[in-house]
Amino acid sequence: MSEPGRLLNHFQDRLRKDQSDGWSSLWETDESDLWDRGKPSPALIDFVECYGRNIFHDMKKDDRCCRLKALVPIKGCGRGYEVIMLALHGFDAYGLEVSSKVVDIAKEYAESQLESPDPSFYGEKRSEYVRGSANFVLGDFFQKNWETNCGIKDDDKFDLIYDYTFLCALLPEMRFDWARRMQDLLKPGGVLVCLEFPLWKDHQSAGPPWGLDGVYWNLLAEGKDGILTSTPALATRDGTDLKGPFTRLVHYKPDRSYDQGRGTDMMSIWRPAS
Ligand SMILES: C[S@@+](CC[C@H](N)C(=O)[O-])C[C@H]1O[C@@H](n2cnc3c(N)ncnc32)[C@H](O)[C@@H]1O
Repeated sequence: MSEPGRLLNHFQDRLRKDQSDGWSSLWETDESDLWDRGKPSPALIDFVECYGRNIFHDMKKDDRCCRLKALVPIKGCGRGYEVIMLALHGFDAYGLEVSSKVVDIAKEYAESQLESPDPSFYGEKRSEYVRGSANFVLGDFFQKNWETNCGIKDDDKFDLIYDYTFLCALLPEMRFDWARRMQDLLKPGGVLVCLEFPLWKDHQSAGPPWGLDGVYWNLLAEGKDGILTSTPALATRDGTDLKGPFTRLVHYKPDRSYDQGRGTDMMSIWRPAS
């Protein structure tokens, strides 16, 4: 069976309440090759090292050594490539995973990588930053009980959250809650960074991964449920009467991304609407 076929088959007819168990069992049987890209996202490295510098500088104008806090809610943590990369770029980074096996794998991997990180893997400019920490936390994104393990309190929330292959892994009926949870976890001036994938897949085909073209805009800018039957025309993705929980700061095609995006991946950067 092809890799997409294996994943589809595993999740076929699985209810919302059984989704987390579905992912954990794939980790237990060593099937993370179905989605593990083997390296941190080149598009996220470029964002952090170039464009993002202005955004982060605004956030911490007065204290260049003060750390920013980042949540990587699923990048699976697999091995936590982005968690390590962000720590090397001055963030106190937290990888959240619902599977305890992943948390153990990620902790061990991070320890070995942080000893002598390869610049071609984690970004050329990482040595310009005061190193932060790489942390891995067990928890369900939709529950609150893990937040204290990331030092989350009333005003102290995340400066940056990165999402890649998390939204597309969720059942469509979970998308609205994903958007509200993102809003809940970010500081008012924080940013949600989405590497939008898969944009080449139509809305009628089953997932995971579920096709997401137009879904981020519908959920975050328009405040709708993100369940689309067709991709809205670009012209309808603008407007002044937007009631969603986020404002899109920028939307661009990254110079570099994974092959699995088939050249269609987009980066979108969002700030909680005030
Ligand atoms: C498709 S994989 C993507 C992993 C990662 N983004 C990557 O590219 O390697 C989805 C991941 O989300 C995790 N996951 C699924 N539901 C979750 C939830 N509710 N809370 C936390 N993690 C979850 C799964 O264990 C799995 O590792």
